[in-house]
Amino acid sequence: MSLKFDFNNMFDFSVQEHGVSQEDIQEALPQAQKAAAHLKKVLADPASRIKLNLEWAKLPEQKEENIAAISKIARQIAQKYENVLFLGIGGSYLGLKAAQDALCAPYFNEFKPLRKKSPRVYFEGNNLDPDTLSALLKNLNPKKTFVVVISKSGETTETKAALVLVEAWLKKTADLKYGRQVLAITDPESGSLRKRVLAEQSKDPLSFRALPLLKGVGGRFSEFNMGLLHLALAGIDIRKLFQGAKEMFARCSNEDILKNPAYLYALLHFILYQKKDKSLAVLMPFSQTLKSTADWYIQLLAESTGKKFHRRIEMDKDGVENWLADQSALFNRGRTPISAAGTNDLHSIQQNNVEGQNNKVVTFMRVEKFRTDLKIPGKGDLLSGKSFCQLMQLAQEATEWALVTQKRPNCTIVIPEVSAYNWGALLFFFEMATAFEGELFNINAFDQPGVEGYKNYMYYKLGKPGIPPAVTEEIKNKPLIKDPQYIL
Ligand code: PA5
Repeated sequence: MSLKFDFNNMFDFSVQEHGVSQEDIQEALPQAQKAAAHLKKVLADPASRIKLNLEWAKLPEQKEENIAAISKIARQIAQKYENVLFLGIGGSYLGLKAAQDALCAPYFNEFKPLRKKSPRVYFEGNNLDPDTLSALLKNLNPKKTFVVVISKSGETTETKAALVLVEAWLKKTADLKYGRQVLAITDPESGSLRKRVLAEQSKDPLSFRALPLLKGVGGRFSEFNMGLLHLALAGIDIRKLFQGAKEMFARCSNEDILKNPAYLYALLHFILYQKKDKSLAVLMPFSQTLKSTADWYIQLLAESTGKKFHRRIEMDKDGVENWLADQSALFNRGRTPISAAGTNDLHSIQQNNVEGQNNKVVTFMRVEKFRTDLKIPGKGDLLSGKSFCQLMQLAQEATEWALVTQKRPNCTIVIPEVSAYNWGALLFFFEMATAFEGELFNINAFDQPGVEGYKNYMYYKLGKPGIPPAVTEEIKNKPLIKDPQYIL
């Protein structure tokens, strides 16, 4: 059984003037068909996929020997170490965390029977908060901990800083060959992490082993690449995950946009954003285990579609497209994602969803079958004899109803069960929808130039050489104003 997508509450027949009408669809269809044709063309061309960062669409087709090789490394690590510490941020972290929470047992680290043969899994390097890293290092045994550092660029401050600390920790307490306890997942050719790998391996081939990241895959689209070792270590069935993603690719290749779940999802949101000012995208799984998947989607949507400029397409000499920023006018648009979870956030954000500004579209994720169920014992009470699963589904339906009565557009992704197959399909659905949304807005969905601003400022203050003079000038000329009169 595969995922279902219920778009009823996106239309005017459900939420009246706040929904999409058939006229809206007819009006947008020619643009959507053009967008679909363009995406199809780019996806079909290997050179374009690599150059424009769309190779993620091919990740579920990875060869069996690749999966087998990664599974072998995972087995070797699991046999020797009790803990695996992953260091990474953004796309080098969120997909792993989402998989961990969705597909592994809750309280995985706490209870050995839940982990089976897997080691405990920890994530760090995704922040500069010293408290979490120091607490972890104080309590983990370095001799029993394997470290996986993930950074495509190899240059990200948070991950780099954490690695230096973790190395010092390993060096002090583990033996001199501590590099054998580190594996790097990074660009196959460039970046300081790759350089480090080469330097370490020239001294000891077993030190700083590395897994390459495929070319043409940006961080937030790369869970099916950089996440594989984590999936294998956590005992998640990679083959099933790829099967689910492949099935979703087939469904999302349907040229009839109204039958293509990812394209229809993007199109309806696009119309609601453009015509009805629905600028906030609330993703609300009714499942605790899918909350991190909603967090993963925040990065995917925000970095892919929140852009300053439209895209300008030029052809290079080989007939491959070049996507440039069209600086002739500001775009400065993009839906803002928010993640919430049912039922806990029914007691927080839901009030605003129902009665606050009608500027949101809620996407529910509804799970049909949980891995377990709990029946409430007793007799005579309203809840007696009811199961948690039944109540969860009722709460989701009730939330949908509460939104519809207040003319709040929403849609539901129905997930038969949270399995590797369905989760692979879910991720791939969101990736296809995001790529298509980028096409509809005519923006480059596969870069993230806005992330550079804070990095440049930090590098400047830290005295990093080689910052472009224009950037240095801008920082010097526009210092932050800290007028004491407004600091109370
Ligand atoms: O989507 C992206 O490419 C980014 O958000 C990256 O994932 C993030 O900045 C981390 O980068 P790196 O893997 O190079 O450390």
